[in-house]
Amino acid sequence: MLTLSSRSKVADLQNGPPAVMRTLVSTGIFRDGDDPEVTIGELCWNFGFNPGILLNMLQSANTQEDVPPIDIAPFKAMSLLDLVEHIEDVHHRYLRENLPLLTELTREVAAAHPEDGRLAALKLEMQHVATELESHLAHEEEALFAMVRDLAIRTAVKPTRCGDAVGGPIACMETEHEAALASLKKMREYTDGYTAPAGADDLWQQMLAAVARFDQDMVEHMYKENRVLFPRALDAQLGKS
Ligand SMILES: [Fe+2]
Ligand SMILES: [Fe+2]
Repeated sequence: MLTLSSRSKVADLQNGPPAVMRTLVSTGIFRDGDDPEVTIGELCWNFGFNPGILLNMLQSANTQEDVPPIDIAPFKAMSLLDLVEHIEDVHHRYLRENLPLLTELTREVAAAHPEDGRLAALKLEMQHVATELESHLAHEEEALFAMVRDLAIRTAVKPTRCGDAVGGPIACMETEHEAALASLKKMREYTDGYTAPAGADDLWQQMLAAVARFDQDMVEHMYKENRVLFPRALDAQLGKS
């Protein structure tokens, strides 16, 4: 973890958790190739950015764990087209097939134990994340994935509701991934990390196993998109691959 202040240089941030630099770049006030000897204070002064707000954003990224949930190498080796196909075939399909079941299971278990506030909270969080994900998947497929397919076959990118550059939808997708991650964190808290309490019946255990599987699939899915698909789509737009 880094010690951050307005005197920290970008070069210092580059040696910290990767999430810190991703957060800085996402603000648009520093780009790859800019002078890393600049300090956070100088960047904020130059761009009229509030240094307190920026330091808070960087600090929250600074505390994020950065343990890879999967070996990413096979996905880096895929073509962009194959990677998009893989994400749709494996993860988007899994979600479309399982979100109704997950919503129903959490609803049934909460209804069977009305005295348990955490089960009620879990049910509401699952309903919320399922609704958000339905629109996220559609947005991703209609905007970003369509652009990536255009880029992969070297045709002009057809403008979508997010404009004609992949950076627009990628920024939206990253924000939605952060929100999904926040939902997963809440669900882990409500279930003590998906641990069945003593006396939990079969349906309760089945529900916890299904939500744990959903959590794992989401973490892997978002990791592939954030760490492989999005950077490669940006490179493809710039003509680097
Ligand atoms: Fe996705
Ligand atoms: Fe996504």
